[in-house]
Amino acid sequence: MSEEALFETTISNIGTYENQKVTLKGWLYNKRSSGKIMFLILRDGTGIVQCVVSQKDVGQDLFARLDKLNQESSLVIQGIVRKDARAPGGYEVGVTGCTIVSEAFDDYPITLKEHGVEFLLDHRHLWIRTPRQKNILLIRAEIIKACRDFLDGEGFVNVDAPIMTPSACEGTTTLFPVEYFGEQAYLSQSGQLYNEAAIMALRKVYCFGPTFRAEKSKTRRHLTEFWMVEPEAAFMTFEEMLRLEERMVSYIVERVLTRYGHLLEELGRDTQKLEQVKPPFPRLTYTEAVELLNQKGLDITWGDDFGAPHETAIASEFAKPVFVTHFPTKIKAFYMQPDPDNPDTVLGADLLAPEGYGEIIGGGQRIHDYHLLLERIRQHNLPVEDYQWYLDLRRFGSVPHSGFGMGIERVVAWICGLEHVRETIPFPRLINRLRP
Ligand code: 4AD
Ligand code: MG
Repeated sequence: MSEEALFETTISNIGTYENQKVTLKGWLYNKRSSGKIMFLILRDGTGIVQCVVSQKDVGQDLFARLDKLNQESSLVIQGIVRKDARAPGGYEVGVTGCTIVSEAFDDYPITLKEHGVEFLLDHRHLWIRTPRQKNILLIRAEIIKACRDFLDGEGFVNVDAPIMTPSACEGTTTLFPVEYFGEQAYLSQSGQLYNEAAIMALRKVYCFGPTFRAEKSKTRRHLTEFWMVEPEAAFMTFEEMLRLEERMVSYIVERVLTRYGHLLEELGRDTQKLEQVKPPFPRLTYTEAVELLNQKGLDITWGDDFGAPHETAIASEFAKPVFVTHFPTKIKAFYMQPDPDNPDTVLGADLLAPEGYGEIIGGGQRIHDYHLLLERIRQHNLPVEDYQWYLDLRRFGSVPHSGFGMGIERVVAWICGLEHVRETIPFPRLINRLRP
């Protein structure tokens, strides 16, 4: 046991060390024993491997201690890597020595049997250790990286928008108030307004950060804290923006398929559906969407906003994400540019994911005319003083511009094929959940 293994490695790399002695550091995931042989299933954050311990190799004392270990005890294991076609990763480890770093106190609350969702969410700090949750978090990280790589590659500059803000971007009903040294501030709903300032300096920018909505909606698509990537560009037209969206979404899907297709399969995702996500995406105007919904027997009249059933019904007509464009002005945010051909509608678009995952992107062209913007701020009963700086952007070299925001958790839910966004973020914040 005292002799050090030559190579410290991770389970994901174990194949490089066939027939050699390695050190692995990790946690006990499961254990079986049959007399003088014991099977420790070790996980180390990169994978899972079966480690075979025999009493004659490690001695009676250590064997007895290992035999009593609770799940999730932490271990450093030395052993010989052996090829084994029956083992899940193709290898197992013949243990020559083992140090117990920390014995888990009790029976681990999350066992291999089924648990209720509320129980799992109460134990989210432990739940994330399970292979399924770990896979989702890996894919989430890849999606975030893919967003950044795509936008960086298109010449967008990452600019960070503030989280504490004095005013609303997406309407006042979903603001989280913060007491700011005796003044009323709010957690940001979107970095868009600040992006609009930054594009006049850098032309193409994006912000990427947490955003907050005090949404009373208890649905499988709503979090109160979620992450949004928001590209914005000066001179970008509505049409150019739609093209950018479909390129970006296709790029992300392809990246995940290429790098983590095996994890998607472990999650049970039908990856063939994702293979179809390539530009161009179908488009419908809001008016056409309402007609379609009426034909399908759904109750909606022109001017109503879509609910989840409407979005699902529209998306079910298409294999790819679908754009719904030209919404009625009165149901969209104050900054939306009117369509010159029909000013009752706006140059705004939602991108709906297939398979019922709902809206993943909201965006559009912004009002660049000072007077019209001022009028809209007043119509929406927003305090004009707070928007003076935003109006300044229309006073000093205003240009047509567009941008959008993509919610990361909804994209993760769609790509992974998850039923609810609560599994797409390490520690979800929901209307009824602030802990752990
Ligand atoms: O459509 P939204 O509200 O658009 C904006 O905030 C714009 N200011 C963005 C921009 O143009 N820069 O939100 C954008 C996206 C939605 O399409 C959805 O994916 C996600 O953010 N989203 C949510 N995700 C999880 N939980 C919620 N409560 C969400 N609300 C919006
Ligand atoms: Mg929206």
